[in-house]
Amino acid sequence: MNLKNKVLDYLENKEDVFVSGQQLADSLGVSRTAIWKVISELRKEGAMINAVTNKGYFLVRESTKLSIDSLKKELPDYNIHYFDEIDSTNTFLKSIANEENIKKTIVVASKQLNGRGRLGRIFESPDGGIYFSLLVNSHNNNDDNLLITSIAAVSISRAIKKVCNIDTQIKWVNDIYIDDKKVCGILTEGIIDMEVGRIRSMIVGIGINFSTSINQFPKDIRNIVTSIYKEEKLIPKNVNRNILVKEIINEIYNIWESLPNKDFLNEYRAKSNVIGKKVYLYNKDNTIEKAYVKNINDKAHLVVEMENGEKREIGSGEVTLRVTK
Ligand code: BTN
Repeated sequence: MNLKNKVLDYLENKEDVFVSGQQLADSLGVSRTAIWKVISELRKEGAMINAVTNKGYFLVRESTKLSIDSLKKELPDYNIHYFDEIDSTNTFLKSIANEENIKKTIVVASKQLNGRGRLGRIFESPDGGIYFSLLVNSHNNNDDNLLITSIAAVSISRAIKKVCNIDTQIKWVNDIYIDDKKVCGILTEGIIDMEVGRIRSMIVGIGINFSTSINQFPKDIRNIVTSIYKEEKLIPKNVNRNILVKEIINEIYNIWESLPNKDFLNEYRAKSNVIGKKVYLYNKDNTIEKAYVKNINDKAHLVVEMENGEKREIGSGEVTLRVTK
């Protein structure tokens, strides 16, 4: 480890406490001048090291909380609406979606009072999570538009790996899992242009359990949900919620712009936790059927084989899925 990293490490371990130059020099076995030089270099590189005469240095840890300032810094080209708490970021975005200059708008919240999930369900959205919605303009090809939820799933998985260094799985079609438990859900809603009768744009709503402690969820779902970090103090120092939001949004737009290229679907398949599994299909007419998941095709439809050998392709809105034990 070079001296720069040693100094940074030392200050990190003494977070929010003053450390004198002499103390640093003695502990690291170098001169005070060497410490002074290294601190100046670290500051030039962006480290927030405060110095106070007669007291010493301390490292200011950037907050990982969502904030309008940090989001604006990470996503300078966007209109950003930030709320400490809101009913639902999807509902809010929908209510302003007809205003001008909406294209690069995102709505972000630290808590939702009426978070909405798929099929009219509630999406529990306590403090500690990240809840946001973005508007995506539709493509001319409607099959491509229907890929947006799978694009969001791959983007979230990539961003969690990049920012938090954690591997995730994708449960068709819109859930992200860690260790067999749901950590994130996606709700995509279309805005229809009535004049031409086609999807004009889509609202992609993403809810991530980031550092939500399990007790914040209702008892009946505690054994099926998880959080990236089990509590706030377990968030590593280099991990920041605002950066995670940025990475997800950038990934979504990158893949969206690269359509009709569908390479991202290979990653979707590789991360799928249902391909090769026996599942229960919960149909809309309340019937339940057993099936074997063979694959996910280029329309992001599930390709299954029913118990009687019949092959079926299932679109996202048609069923919910549970892997058999
Ligand atoms: C699901 O798991 O059924 C989908 C959950 C989607 C939740 C997100 S949180 C941000 C956005 N606002 C909402 O009300 N819902 C989505």
